[in-house]
Amino acid sequence: MRRIIIYYSLSGNTEEAVKIIADKLGCDMLRIDTVKQMPKSFAARLLVGGGQVAFNKIPKLKPIGKDLSLYDEIFIGTPVWNRKGVPAINALLTDESICQKVTGLIVTSGGGDIGKCAEALKDRIPNVKYTVSLLDRKHKDHQLNDDKIKKFVEMCG
Ligand SMILES: Cc1cc2nc3c(=O)[nH]c(=O)nc-3n(C[C@H](O)[C@H](O)[C@H](O)COP(=O)(O)O)c2cc1C
Repeated sequence: MRRIIIYYSLSGNTEEAVKIIADKLGCDMLRIDTVKQMPKSFAARLLVGGGQVAFNKIPKLKPIGKDLSLYDEIFIGTPVWNRKGVPAINALLTDESICQKVTGLIVTSGGGDIGKCAEALKDRIPNVKYTVSLLDRKHKDHQLNDDKIKKFVEMCG
């Protein structure tokens, strides 16, 4: 069974977690990005990224460059933006053949509440069996991530 983790990460938290999980599971990983780059400052990111989420904007993605038909299962890695998933992942999930293969969700957030994000994605990815909620490394409890990752890997390994 071949698995790949496809993820978006703006400031590295999701990427850091995905790298550890992909390594432990021995699966491939693929970072996606939008053609139009996000601004550099956090305030501008909140405005632009949060606005995209609020208005359900689907951005154009850079070419993926990988044959996803080779994989049986896909895990998605996403930060929470404006309490929901990021526009780049929403763009990826416009492809129904990808949606059907998604069985895992790796979510990072600044506050730990991923309920609304998971809920917003649920209709597009109905086959999710494994979910892990991780904290931004700036959060005071971010050390809890190690144990959560360990349990997540055991569950889906
Ligand atoms: C535009 C934007 C909106 C965000 N909205 C939320 C939010 O609603 N709730 C939350 O807990 N964290 C929010 N965050 C924080 C990110 O979810 C958190 O820092 C995440 O770990 C970033 O992942 P990354 O480093 O892989 O980009 C937001 C961050 C950005 C840039």
